[in-house]
Amino acid sequence: MKKLHIVSNRLPFSIVSEEDKFLLKPSVGGLATGMKSVYKDFEGRWIGWPGVATESYTADQFKEIQEMLSAEGCETVPLSSSEVHTFYEGFCNRTIWPLFHYFNQYVDYSTEFWQSYVEVNQKFADRTLEVVEEGDFVWVHDYQLMLVPGMIKAKRPDITIGFFLHIPFPSYEIFRMLPWRNELLEGLLGADLIGFHTYDYERHFLSSVRRLFGYEISFNQIHIGERIVLADAFPMGIDYDKFSNSAIKTISKPLQEKSPLHQELEKYFLVSPDRKLILSIDRLDYSKGIPHRLRAFEYFLEKYPEYGTKVTLVMLAVPSRNSVPEYQKLKREVDELVGRINGMYGSVNYSPVWYFYRSMPFENLVELYSMSDVALLTPVRDGMNLVAKEYVASRTNQTGVMIISEMTGVVKEMGEALVINPNHEGEVADAIKQALEMPVDEQRSRMSVMQKRLKRYDVFKWAEQFVSSLKRINQIQSEFLAK
Ligand code: ADP
Ligand code: G6P
Repeated sequence: MKKLHIVSNRLPFSIVSEEDKFLLKPSVGGLATGMKSVYKDFEGRWIGWPGVATESYTADQFKEIQEMLSAEGCETVPLSSSEVHTFYEGFCNRTIWPLFHYFNQYVDYSTEFWQSYVEVNQKFADRTLEVVEEGDFVWVHDYQLMLVPGMIKAKRPDITIGFFLHIPFPSYEIFRMLPWRNELLEGLLGADLIGFHTYDYERHFLSSVRRLFGYEISFNQIHIGERIVLADAFPMGIDYDKFSNSAIKTISKPLQEKSPLHQELEKYFLVSPDRKLILSIDRLDYSKGIPHRLRAFEYFLEKYPEYGTKVTLVMLAVPSRNSVPEYQKLKREVDELVGRINGMYGSVNYSPVWYFYRSMPFENLVELYSMSDVALLTPVRDGMNLVAKEYVASRTNQTGVMIISEMTGVVKEMGEALVINPNHEGEVADAIKQALEMPVDEQRSRMSVMQKRLKRYDVFKWAEQFVSSLKRINQIQSEFLAK
């Protein structure tokens, strides 16, 4: 039987060492959390990096790690600490990530990083080639592995390859700045189907292909000699029922069975029932606009002092890529801003910002989603933003207001949210006020429309549509050749 294998840098589980033992911990980030819900249906393997460098374990421990991951359907691609430095922290997260998120000033065009990217992509391709059997399908994910489709296709043209980009594809004027732009596109074009979260990203990609290679493009089909490559938009969904069912469960539990976090939150509301919570959840990443959010919240407290002591911003940030200097700088900036706001507007009984710098178990995430009156998500650039969808799915009584940045992919599916430009502090501050004062009927009517939409197109539908398009490719290709 033909199988479908997944290839991504980040596996659904990352290895962490605790007291001389290695444990599997669920990985954070849209790719891992989204694909984790669907991959077991594919009857293939998930090929990826376990999240720690080879120097952190012995040969025997590596065997143990491989076995643990294998039991979860995963195959490991080990990376040395030097590869982690030049490939993962280097080309992936100091070249492509900032460039594709329009942070030109952060981009490092190091040839050493690029060479490592080529070598490590070849490693992933070789490992995949060991796993695939004749006629199988391979689904490669994200910006860390853009050369892998071309590398696999060169050796095994019989394998049908899909690629999905989880981050924005930037406009040609940005993309052209990359010295290795042609090589990246060639790598991607080894795939038969290339998916993006939005039509805009697809359009940017097609425009780069047209300008750099001059291939004929009709609608979304790229003609490369006898081959056809398809580009299309597939906005990624979430495991909607998992969030909404868990929210129902958490709300209906008796107080003594609730988690310590839930009990603390309930106490907060007991002190004064008209208190409100504003929530934000992200990886600590400069693309997420966390300082923008804090400054806008500070401005809100200044402009609308009547809200002082009545509103708390619960800000959950999960540590991410903390060996990259820009992430360290961001951490310092956020620490400072939180300190400044709490120092300025806080009192013995009130902290305007509750800041958690850690990852949280799923149960706590859902508690926060279901107890917060407003979600405030202000990325300056974001491929999708699944957190926004998770908040909506967890609002089982249909109250709550979403404030979302217009620079995200998700905004296209959230016309009923309050849409803001994160660079406009005044607009964000006013949106916070509007959200806090929105009548319950209006909250419900906005929320219910978004819920219907997200429930209908959940992560299972997303994967099903991508995979069925991938399976139709061979037919499209033969029809093209028969013409
Ligand atoms: P990105 O993929 O850029 O990290 P998304 O919003 O698309 O952004 O996806 C983030 C995923 O990581 C979500 O599924 C979210 O639930 C999860 N996540 C984010 N922050 C935390 C945290 N502090 N603890 C646990 N999970 C988190
Ligand atoms: C984003 C990227 C993913 C990545 C995730 C977490 O969602 O699109 O590919 O896995 O961030 O980042 P990390 O560097 O920890 O894998």
